[in-house]
Amino acid sequence: MPRTSRPTDYYLHTLPGIEGIAWEEVQEQVDAAELQGFKVVPGRNGILLFSTLADPAVLTRVRTGEDLFWTMARVPEVPWGREGLSMMSDRLMQELSVNHGLNLLGSLRPMPSSKPVTFRVISRMAGKNQPYRRKELADMVTRVVRHRTRRQWRAVREGEQVELWANLLGRELLLGMRLSDETMRHRSYQQVHLPASLRPSMAAAMVRLTQPAPDDVFLDPLCGTGTILIERGLYGRHGLLVGGDIDQAALMAAQENIGPQHKPRELLLWDAQRLPLADGSVDCVASNLPFGKQLSRPRDLPVLYRGLCAEIARLLSSQGRAVLLTSEIRRLRAALEEQQGLVLRRTYSVSLLGQRATIQIVERSPSYSQEQEV
Ligand SMILES: C[S@@+](CC[C@H](N)C(=O)[O-])C[C@H]1O[C@@H](n2cnc3c(N)ncnc32)[C@H](O)[C@@H]1O
Repeated sequence: MPRTSRPTDYYLHTLPGIEGIAWEEVQEQVDAAELQGFKVVPGRNGILLFSTLADPAVLTRVRTGEDLFWTMARVPEVPWGREGLSMMSDRLMQELSVNHGLNLLGSLRPMPSSKPVTFRVISRMAGKNQPYRRKELADMVTRVVRHRTRRQWRAVREGEQVELWANLLGRELLLGMRLSDETMRHRSYQQVHLPASLRPSMAAAMVRLTQPAPDDVFLDPLCGTGTILIERGLYGRHGLLVGGDIDQAALMAAQENIGPQHKPRELLLWDAQRLPLADGSVDCVASNLPFGKQLSRPRDLPVLYRGLCAEIARLLSSQGRAVLLTSEIRRLRAALEEQQGLVLRRTYSVSLLGQRATIQIVERSPSYSQEQEV
């Protein structure tokens, strides 16, 4: 890895809403990182911008991130309209350099030494409608890169060695070189997928929100293909992992995905409304609850949420925490309110495949702990 004395600017794509959680993970993974800000591409990505001296290979292992980019350029205060397009072009024609990014890429995977380097520009625009299209933004960046590399780099439509992303977000252009490949986002453990499988980076964020401890008993009562349980296993030491599902096919998928790792653990076929676990025996719950469309009979949802919340209220230890993901926010809140001894601590608004959802963090209420001590 080439060492420079100056920190490198990076950004991470996350699922929308978990960029703050990704920042906490980055700070844990690297010694010194400086936050440069957060951005959102509505419905698509959260963006976490930061700088660090750390090796990019470490950053590609940030589990709450989906993709890592080298920040090639940021152009603020872009005027609206075609004037803005010319302004961005002028700035980039003067300043853009690609070499550092190529070194970073070369430190992550072998890059063919033969010329020319092939590249492709992906463009996105969010904010006020512009009188030009995304393609014109991509074409402008392509021309700049050709010019700045003295035509050594060649634009291709597919099979490129280097992927550049031009994001015009409101009045700022953020230009990045993608450093990670698809292995950052798709985990090798996901052998079996089902339609409702959770994105691993969201599962990793939920695991972090449970505040894991090395000896905790961790439960996913609706584990599906096991993504959350596996991310908990990968996070670090645990006491016991417990998961189950009402669907035999989902449970078999979870068994296959988990494989022989992450012991001790138990996977059981069950109804989450009647769990075979002792009162107060669980420290952390994290679960991706079925949304309306995912149940064959959506009208069963209120009953399931109520039954599940009653079980969480019964099972959670006095310092316990539950992290629940759903798009049925009102339904979940109504079910939680019926349970004495639980309080809603915090809500994160997130987005999954363009659908709005929330992560709700639930804890024991202080009065419950006192009652137990009496
Ligand atoms: C949204 S999916 C969870 C997906 C999981 N996080 C993953 O990555 O595969 C919800 C799961 O809840 C299960 N489920 C629905 N009703 C249930 C019930 N009463 N008891 C247990 N599991 C149930 C479904 O079979 C489904 O696998």
